[in-house]
Amino acid sequence: MNRMTRKGWVVGALAALCVAAALCRVPTVQAARHTLLHKTRLHPDDLEIGGDLAGVQKGETRFVTYADLLALPQETYTVSTDTNFVGTVTISGVALEKLPALLGAAPGAAMVIAVCDDSYNAHYPAEYFSAHHPVLVLRVNGLPPAQWPKGSDGSAMGPYMISHPSFTPAFHVLAHTDEPQVPWGVLRLDFRNELEVYAPIVPRNHVHAEAVHDGYAIARQNCFRCHASEGEGGTKSPVQWDDIAGKAVHAPGYFDAYVTAPKKINPDTQMAASPQYDVATLAALRAYFATFKETRP
Ligand code: HEC
Repeated sequence: MNRMTRKGWVVGALAALCVAAALCRVPTVQAARHTLLHKTRLHPDDLEIGGDLAGVQKGETRFVTYADLLALPQETYTVSTDTNFVGTVTISGVALEKLPALLGAAPGAAMVIAVCDDSYNAHYPAEYFSAHHPVLVLRVNGLPPAQWPKGSDGSAMGPYMISHPSFTPAFHVLAHTDEPQVPWGVLRLDFRNELEVYAPIVPRNHVHAEAVHDGYAIARQNCFRCHASEGEGGTKSPVQWDDIAGKAVHAPGYFDAYVTAPKKINPDTQMAASPQYDVATLAALRAYFATFKETRP
């Protein structure tokens, strides 16, 4: 082997290594992400992951362990404004908006939906992420979920919960103020495309009236957490979007009373009251829901 050929061999080998490294870079990172997702639950405190996952059939879910979540980049905040806690606590966990990329969501599935043990859904669209930076909480005051303070009804707040560094309302629509989405008892996160999730609740009949638009903004943040439309939204309530629309059109007084003070009508209600909604706000909600009635006989 002469000098030239040896040099040529070294250069060639280096080039081959570089090419291999370049080719490997993307698949290696993807492989690392995918190893975090398991087909079956390994521990009772695994977090279930669903929605649109790269390389996973629609409808199937995966599981990520608490230990693997702790190994992801952690953020720590001192929190004094979260009504789930008494006084000031230190929370640490993973930025919710980073989880779709970290856990292998399909392209475009950047919205996160947190599904709770009572089928309540908290929705985190891009707008919410940029305004509030929610955190998937893994430790409270340095402690794991089993040692967290109890929730308002005395039950455990784990296995997962969502909180914020701080919360300042980002919008007001009539008497509705942007509300913190701070669920506890979170069992599953779904990664979804925002447009797909909201498609079933976009006002029907291309109604562009301002009241309809306002009602939609309110219903999307409030009602959609517990009421579903065509398979999207929370299922805490069996009452569907269409049923609410029926009440809005045919029983407006009942609709208004249920929204502002459900306990007066149903002492065992599981619905969150919105006593702050005034006449204009209730009218906007009814105008919005009415667009769903008009399309259906
Ligand atoms: C925290 C969950 C939750 C939220 C948020 C919520 N609801 Fe409900 N809603 C329920 C549940 C559960 C029921 C079923 C009966 C009950 O528990 O009161 C219900 C029942 C109703 C009913 C009565 C239906 C009937 O057939 O009598 C109406 C009307 C209604 N909801 C409208 C709304 C509207 C409008 C919003 C948004 C402004 C909303 N709900 C937000 C949980 C919720």
